[in-house]
Amino acid sequence: MVTMSRPKKWTARKIAALKGKEKIAAITAYDYATARFVDASGMHLVLVGDSLGMTMLGYQSTLPVTVDEMIHHTAAVVRGTENALVVGDMPFMSYQPGIDLTMINAGRFLQEAGADAVKIEGGQERVELVEALVKAAIPVMGHIGLTPQSIKDFGGFKVQGRTNEEAERLVADAKALEQAGVFAIVLEAIPPALAQRITDSLSIPTVGIGAGPNCDGQILVINDLLGMYDEFTPKFVKQYAQLGEEMKRAFAEYIRDVQDGTFPSNEHCY
Ligand code: KIV
Repeated sequence: MVTMSRPKKWTARKIAALKGKEKIAAITAYDYATARFVDASGMHLVLVGDSLGMTMLGYQSTLPVTVDEMIHHTAAVVRGTENALVVGDMPFMSYQPGIDLTMINAGRFLQEAGADAVKIEGGQERVELVEALVKAAIPVMGHIGLTPQSIKDFGGFKVQGRTNEEAERLVADAKALEQAGVFAIVLEAIPPALAQRITDSLSIPTVGIGAGPNCDGQILVINDLLGMYDEFTPKFVKQYAQLGEEMKRAFAEYIRDVQDGTFPSNEHCY
């Protein structure tokens, strides 16, 4: 990856330096074509999230997603991206078993897929892994709060940090991750006041999803933002388009045109 000739390219360090200066706009993407549009919009950061298990592959959760699936999609997004920072999401069981496996899998994200950074879920229990990755010059994004790879433990998709004990643990998690060297932390589904407290206590940026307006940036799953996932829409999602409805309209019109012979007309023929 040659970045020296691309002055507009977002690096992990440049993203971290935005704290207090400019809000970070981040989104997920999973394929080349969409990544091109996202990158052209000026988005700071593209996460190839393991949410692709649900949005792209039709799984019920992120748990079945494999490293090979993530590498395949991350490489496609990298090919479609010039300036945004591309973060590859390390899937379930690609890092939980220990440092050796983590290093091999994180290395694949950078070497095979061309990602700029990786993201792992968890707090204080990940400090050793984050330190090892950072030592190997692999930029790491943290992710705490409602971490979807832990839904079996949480008992479902539940807001986190509502009790004092949980809130204190999340503050300690964020500080431990910062200390270990992450360049930013995703805060998912926690009360806005707690997100603000965590944000104010760190010198690195927080990127919220369902964590209120006081984070240093926001991230949304692209299918939610575009109205392309109709199975469940969380309360924190703002839909900026209804592309699912637009696709249904276009497909119906195409079927009608094919059946009544309107398509192809002379202008579409050689
Ligand atoms: O997988 C994903 O899309 C994520 C975001 C929700 C932060 O982890």
